[in-house]
Amino acid sequence: MDYQFLMEKAKEASKNSYSPYSKFPVGACVLGNSGNYYYGCNFENSSFGLTICAERNAIGNAIANGEKEIFAIAIYSPNRDDCLPCGACRQVISEFCRDEGIDVITEKGGRLEIRNINELLPGRFKL
Ligand code: THU
Repeated sequence: MDYQFLMEKAKEASKNSYSPYSKFPVGACVLGNSGNYYYGCNFENSSFGLTICAERNAIGNAIANGEKEIFAIAIYSPNRDDCLPCGACRQVISEFCRDEGIDVITEKGGRLEIRNINELLPGRFKL
């Protein structure tokens, strides 16, 4: 799996971020089980609580296009080395992967970091 490609797409998506309040752009790219890639960026609102994170935007895009499962997600912010997903996004990511989890890819010091979602959210809530 070409995680560098996934990261490049997350970087491209971060350029479309709408983040005038936090000035913290984030981009994400997920690989769906069909082999297609889906992008997302954060988009904020003057009613701050309505802000949507890049990861959830990318996953929503995948689901809207018919994906049932995701295989990996890359996350990038130009403002933060090793930009890991927030707690809410960890729960949403874990909803759409197999029990063995999926790889969460970030960039640290110019190198890719790969962690499993099960490591980032142990004992997740599920029905
Ligand atoms: N943000 C994300 O897009 N993903 C995360 O996992 C954490 C936070 C966004 C939300 C908000 O627009 C900005 O980063 C600052 O919190």
